[in-house]
This record gives sequence, C-alpha cells and structure tokens, in this order.
Amino acid sequence: MSEFRITGRAKLAGVIGHPVTHSLSPVLHNYWLARHGIDGAYVPLSVAPDAFVTAVKGLQVSGFRGANVTIPHKEAAFAIADEVDPMARIAGSVNTLVFREDGVIHGSSTDGFGYVANLESDGIDVAALASRGPALLLGAGGAARSIATSLLEKGFQVVFSNRTAGRAERLAMELDAAWRRYFPKGDAPRLSAIAWDMWEERLGDVALLVNTTSLGMQGGPAPDWTPKLGTASSHLVVSDIVYVPQETPFLKAAGEQGLTTSGGLGMLLHQARPGFRAWFGAETEVDEATVAYISAVLSNR
Ligand SMILES: NC(=O)c1ccc[n+]([C@@H]2O[C@H](COP(=O)([O-])OP(=O)(O)OC[C@H]3O[C@@H](n4cnc5c(N)ncnc54)[C@H](OP(=O)(O)O)[C@@H]3O)[C@@H](O)[C@H]2O)c1
Repeated sequence: MSEFRITGRAKLAGVIGHPVTHSLSPVLHNYWLARHGIDGAYVPLSVAPDAFVTAVKGLQVSGFRGANVTIPHKEAAFAIADEVDPMARIAGSVNTLVFREDGVIHGSSTDGFGYVANLESDGIDVAALASRGPALLLGAGGAARSIATSLLEKGFQVVFSNRTAGRAERLAMELDAAWRRYFPKGDAPRLSAIAWDMWEERLGDVALLVNTTSLGMQGGPAPDWTPKLGTASSHLVVSDIVYVPQETPFLKAAGEQGLTTSGGLGMLLHQARPGFRAWFGAETEVDEATVAYISAVLSNR
C-alpha cells in the first residue's frame, strides 16, 4: 500500500450525518486514497439537522470537493442540490454531493448503483435476470427506494412487500408517478405491492429476491430471521443488503438450498466509487484487498 499523503493542496471530502460515528466511509475512502497515493483526506462531519445548510455552504467555501450525506440529511441534500441526477430525482433522495468549480452543487444517489454493481461483480447478469421475472423487494424504507429505482432502470418489474403494507403501496405509487413525470414518453415502470404474509407464496415466478429490511442484522430486531424459500424456482437469485454479519442466516439458508446468493458488503463498497471518482479523480476497485480491509475493520468494531 502507498503512503498516506497530505499537503496544503489536499483534495477534501467527507460524510455528513447525525450521528456519523457508525459510518465506514472515512475508513474506506482514506484506504483508497492511501492506496492510490492521492494527496487528500475524507473526514466524518457530525452536523445537526438545523445546521445542514450552513455546514454545506461552509464546506463549499472551505475548498471541499463535496460530501456523502447520510441519515437524517438525505432529503435536505436533495433540496440543496442545484442539479440532481435523474435516478436520484425519481428516488427522491441524494447521498452524494459534488461541489463544482462554477459553484453548482450536483446531487446523485449511489446506493442503487452500488447494489446493481455488486450483483454484477458477483457474476450475475442483471439484464438477463430482468427478462426472467420480477424483483421482489422485502421492505419499503430508504434502501428499498434507491434499489428499486436502479432495478427499474435495468428493466425489472418491481414488487414490494413490507410489514407495514401502506408504506409499500405508497412507495410503489410514488415511484410510478416520479418515473412517469421524468420519462413521460417512455415505457411506464411496472410496480406493485403485496401483503407481507403473502410473499413466500409469490416466489415461484420471481427472478430476484432482495432483503432490504433490518431483519437478520446482528443487534437488529430478528438476527436469526430465516424465511422459507420452498416455493422458489431453482434460478432465483437471493440477495441481502444487511452486511453485519456478511452472510446472514437468510443468505446461508438460500445458499444451502442451491440458490445463487449475493451479500450486502459489496453494495456498501461499490456505492462509494462514484463519489471517490468525482472528488479525488481516480477510479477505484472493490477488489479482494478492499473487502479484506473493510471486513477486518468491521470485525474489530
Ligand atoms: N449494504 C448497504 O450498503 C446498505 C445500505 C443501506 C441500508 N442497508 C441496510 O438496510 C437495512 C434497511 O435500511 P433503510 O435505510 O432502508 O432503513 P429504513 O428506511 O428504516 O427501513 C427499514 C425497513 O425494515 C423494515 N423492518 C424493520 N424491522 C422489521 C421487522 N421487525 N419486521 C419486518 N420488517 C422490519 C421496515 O418495515 P416497516 O416499514 O414496517 O417499519 C422498513 O421496511 C438496514 O439493515 C441497513 O443497515 C445496507
């Protein structure tokens, strides 16, 4: 690994959250900066909600190149951006701000990109998968919103199933309306919602099953969560965005059933790549060394 390097001309970026102590982004970006020998730094920025706008303007005038934005600021980041990428506009959420030299703040949402990039790096042909059947997303929170938008872009039909049914129905309607507003002449996406106690029966024709809830997460509401996948076709791809543990009981059981699986850590790593490229000017790879480094950090927490 190259030396850590920082001079008076260092390229600067950070992650704005409240709290921000849990974020792995500083560890990841500084690891990549050192590996590439880039003169730069990426710092955690704890900012209360009522100080968000002041903080962003302060970073901009201090020469920062931009920032990641995490809970609870993703909607405020959407509002402060002068320009927003189409997929972030549809998702209604921004997690990456780039401060351009002309003063424009550009906003994008990279979670969905990270999710799809991770499937692809696990050897899954996402376009072919979309032609085989719908994606069934368990959950209807912030992560489901970003992932669904990227899956729609890849041509999937998306079905939501959430414990709180109304939230899944509202999300399907909102994304449908946002997509039609943005692409009035294009094909309308196909979005729907089914009851939480019905999704296991629906698996027969599903191509991709994604857990976007916190079920299965260490320290979460149900760490042992292992739903039955008995009605799944043998071609079903099962993915889980929970990354602590890296192999959730749900993924382990799916793998033992002979299904293709994909874990959550890669999404976290891939979603950081577009920001790194924009702020620090280099392409990064989510390679074995990166995964090993971040896995070691996670296991020491
Ligand atoms: N790998 C990554 O890069 C990545 C990125 C983002 C998030 N994540 C992980 O994804 C998970 C969700 O994040 P989020 O930001 O979408 O959170 P969120 O907006 O708070 O949504 C949480 C979702 O989990 C569901 N849920 C929570 N407890 C449940 C339970 N006991 N039974 C059934 N459903 C339950 C909620 O259902 P209700 O609507 O019924 O409450 C909701 O759909 C977290 O574990 C987070 O760590 C991973």
